Amino acid sequence: MSETTTRPAVLILLGPPGAGKGTQARKLEESFGMVQLSTGDLLRAAVAAGTPAGMAAKAVMEAGGLVSDEIVLAILKDRMAEPDTARGVILDGFPRTPGQAEALDALLAEQDLAIGAAVSMEVDDAAMIQRVSGRYTCAGCGEGYHDAFKQPLEEGVCDKCGGTAFNRRADDNAETVGARLKAYHEQTAPLIAYYAGRDVLKTVDGMGPIAAIADDLGAIVKQVTA
Ligand code: AP5
Repeated sequence: MSETTTRPAVLILLGPPGAGKGTQARKLEESFGMVQLSTGDLLRAAVAAGTPAGMAAKAVMEAGGLVSDEIVLAILKDRMAEPDTARGVILDGFPRTPGQAEALDALLAEQDLAIGAAVSMEVDDAAMIQRVSGRYTCAGCGEGYHDAFKQPLEEGVCDKCGGTAFNRRADDNAETVGARLKAYHEQTAPLIAYYAGRDVLKTVDGMGPIAAIADDLGAIVKQVTA
């Protein structure tokens, strides 16, 4: 790898909707103490709070398109400025366009940080529609579940916090997932070549069991922080 290994580590998770970016980012947080930084979560929080950025993003997100680079970059920069990012960050769902990738390079250079690895999670589109359509989360702690693949041990009760209320995302339906997959292939997939050219690209098979993928990603984190 030609990048320097300046700490803290910056890990990028690249992959279409349903690839498991959020699932794996949360596991890496638990295992390595890094901070998950999901632009999707930050945008949903802005929508829920009714901020100007959230109001501008809402319709775009519900249609499955990409929110403007300007809005996403402003939100990302604010979050990157918080002190917990000194533990290392896992970028989940960012960057998603060449403009965002270039802006990230500039932001990291300002902070004397380097990308440890950009990991492309390789998956089949058809399976992603099933994964995303069946997804729901605990309203209390955010633990993720799936109608077919991961249900709470006790029906209707979160394994992690015991909560009994669950949420489904407004954009998690088959029609919108199709638009999100299209946006991924047209605007985000070109970043795989971008990071290969920077010699920081890694790939993992995202179709296996969650635990096996976590092991693969953990090995990458250990490698880039060694
Ligand atoms: P965002 O929130 O980033 O959503 P996404 O990229 O569409 O990704 P998902 O959260 O749907 O999937 P994931 O890869 O995290 O999978 P997960 O782990 O949940 O973005 C939402 C919207 O915000 C975008 O459409 C856009 O409008 C906007 N946006 C966000 N960032 C932006 C940016 N940078 N620029 C512009 N706009 C932006 O897993 C999915 C399900 O599968 C879960 O139920 C999980 O339990 C299950 N699962 C996971 N792994 C496995 C496995 N290995 N086997 C079986 N099931 C699995």
